[in-house]
Amino acid sequence: MHRLIARGARRLKRARVFFGHGTDNAWDEAASLTLHALGLPHAGGGALYRRRVRAADAARARELIGRRIAERVPAPYLTGVSWFAGLPFTVDARVLVPRSPLAELIERGFAPWADPRRVRRVLDLGTGSGCIAIACAKALPKARVDAVDISGAALEVARLNVRRHRLARRVRLVRSDHFRALARNTYDIIVANPPYVGAREMKRLPAEYRHEPRVALAAGERGLDSVAVILREARAHLRPRGLLIVEVGNTEAVVRRAYPRLPFLWLQFSRGGGGVFLLTREQLVAH
Ligand SMILES: C[S@@+](CC[C@H](N)C(=O)[O-])C[C@H]1O[C@@H](n2cnc3c(N)ncnc32)[C@H](O)[C@@H]1O
Repeated sequence: MHRLIARGARRLKRARVFFGHGTDNAWDEAASLTLHALGLPHAGGGALYRRRVRAADAARARELIGRRIAERVPAPYLTGVSWFAGLPFTVDARVLVPRSPLAELIERGFAPWADPRRVRRVLDLGTGSGCIAIACAKALPKARVDAVDISGAALEVARLNVRRHRLARRVRLVRSDHFRALARNTYDIIVANPPYVGAREMKRLPAEYRHEPRVALAAGERGLDSVAVILREARAHLRPRGLLIVEVGNTEAVVRRAYPRLPFLWLQFSRGGGGVFLLTREQLVAH
């Protein structure tokens, strides 16, 4: 098994595939695809790597890695699974592959910014696979979560994940353009990983990203289309001392320039990633 994975990793490296959808190196990507082709669990431990592999199984693994290279498909679309905040999510090309640094914050129940035991209502804007909404429901046992997306196709996948995690009673899926279908509902926390890629960057994205829904990435000329709506409308849906937490990735510099007066708190993550700001309702109202 070890040799099979090592060979796969060498092929991925030689082919210069892009790593950015769940793994950040050739070995992990080859291991994930090989284990999937062989129907083996990820957490198999050292013994797994010493296993002998039958010729037919090895051929299946080589073929899957061949597809990864030839079609430049993100690996989670080939395996059908992606991990977020320690939880498995069903994914396919209808949804963005979960990878937000927000996972780290959600696993902590938003501490120290919120008290996880007191959060009752959360809104996940642009839920995609449902990963953020579902991870929030797991981390915040008393919370009910509204998970909004404009894409009906994405919500079908989110529905599979809500069922997979048995959270239908606490996670409500809503088809809506931003806040439009939410009437006057208010939340303790609004969390969003909206589309934020600008037009120039869209053209330069590695081929893997072209398999993801355009609506999940593209956000107009400067990448601000969705963020601008959120900044304008969030305060009407936040409770007193409520939090708005939004990922804008490397559109951070554009956001800072476009809103010089907003007192953004840019969060730090120990597992990497950034470009996530936090604002309170009171700060939004004051500015
Ligand atoms: C960057 S993806 C994030 C998906 C998921 N939350 C995650 O972190 O993996 C952005 C999501 O926002 C949704 N979206 C785009 N425009 C929207 C809009 N106007 N209203 C609601 N959702 C929107 C897309 O369909 C997509 O699922």
